[in-house]
Amino acid sequence: MNVKLEGKVILVTGGASGMGRATSIAAARAGAKVAICDVDGKGGEETLGMTLAAGGDAFFSACDVSAAAQVEAFVNQTVKKFGRLDCAANIAGIEGKWGDNIADAPESNFDRVIAVNLKGVWLCMKYEIAQMLKQGSGGSVVNLASAAGLVANPGSAAYGASKHGVIGLTRTGALEYARQKIRVNAVCPGAIETPMLSRIFEVVPQRGARMAEIEPVGRLGTPDEIAAAVLWLCSDDSSFVTGAALAVDGGLTAM
Ligand SMILES: NC(=O)c1ccc[n+]([C@@H]2O[C@H](COP(=O)([O-])OP(=O)(O)OC[C@H]3O[C@@H](n4cnc5c(N)ncnc54)[C@H](O)[C@@H]3O)[C@@H](O)[C@H]2O)c1
Repeated sequence: MNVKLEGKVILVTGGASGMGRATSIAAARAGAKVAICDVDGKGGEETLGMTLAAGGDAFFSACDVSAAAQVEAFVNQTVKKFGRLDCAANIAGIEGKWGDNIADAPESNFDRVIAVNLKGVWLCMKYEIAQMLKQGSGGSVVNLASAAGLVANPGSAAYGASKHGVIGLTRTGALEYARQKIRVNAVCPGAIETPMLSRIFEVVPQRGARMAEIEPVGRLGTPDEIAAAVLWLCSDDSSFVTGAALAVDGGLTAM
C-alpha cells in the first residue's frame, strides 16, 4: 500500500480485531500516529503491540463507542497524547443476532445493534468533528458501513438498518462540514474474512458455504483490502471525495 499518512494522527475504533486491527497496523506503516480503542482490552493490547512493531507511535484505550462519556474521553486522550486529530476510522461494530425475520426478532437485539453500530458512529462523529473544527484545518472521517447498508439481507434487519443509517449519517456529515474541509465517507465491505464473519457463518451455515461463490470475484475479501480503502479515504489522495459510500465488495452489490 502506497498511501502516505506521515505527520497525521488517526483514531481507530474497533481496533482489537478484524478490519480495525488491519487498519491500525496499516496506518502505522503509512506513517500515522495511531490511537486505538475497543471494548476488548486483551485484543486491543495485542493490536497495539503489532502496530508499534509496524513502526508507529500508538496507544490503546478501552472505550465503548455506545457510551458518550467514553467516546469524548477517548478523543480527548488522543489529543492530549498526540496534539491533534486528523483522521478517524469508525470501525467498531457488532453483528447482533442473525437468522430471525422481523416478526420473530428480539427487541433487545435491535436496541443493542442500533446503540453500537448507529448511535456509536454518531457519537464518534460528534466528538471527532468537534475536535477537527477546533483545529480549523479540516480532517477526514471514515465510517464502516457494509454492503448490508446498500442492499438487504433477510434475517438481519437490525444490522441492515444500522448500516443503512451509517450511510445516512455519512452523507449528512459530509454536507454539514464540506466548507470546513472535513470530509466524511463510508466504506461498504462485502464478505470479509474476520472473526465477525466466522460468527455469522456459525449461526447461518448455509451462508458460509455459499458466500465465496456469491461474491462475483469468487472469494472472500481480506481485512487488509478494507484497510487500504479506509486509509486512502483518510489520505490527501482522496481530497475531492466526500459523502461517498464506497463499495469494497468484490462486485457483490453490482448484482
Ligand atoms: N466481516 C464482514 O464481512 C463485514 C462486512 C461488512 C461490514 N463489516 C463491518 O466492519 C466493521 C468491523 O468488523 P469486523 O468484521 O472486523 O469485526 P470484528 O468482530 O472482527 O471486530 C469488531 C471489533 O469491534 C469491537 N467492538 C464491538 N462493540 C464495540 C463497542 N461498543 N465499542 C468499541 N468497540 C466495539 C469488537 O470488540 C471487535 O474488536 C464492523 O462495523 C462490521 O459491522 C463487516
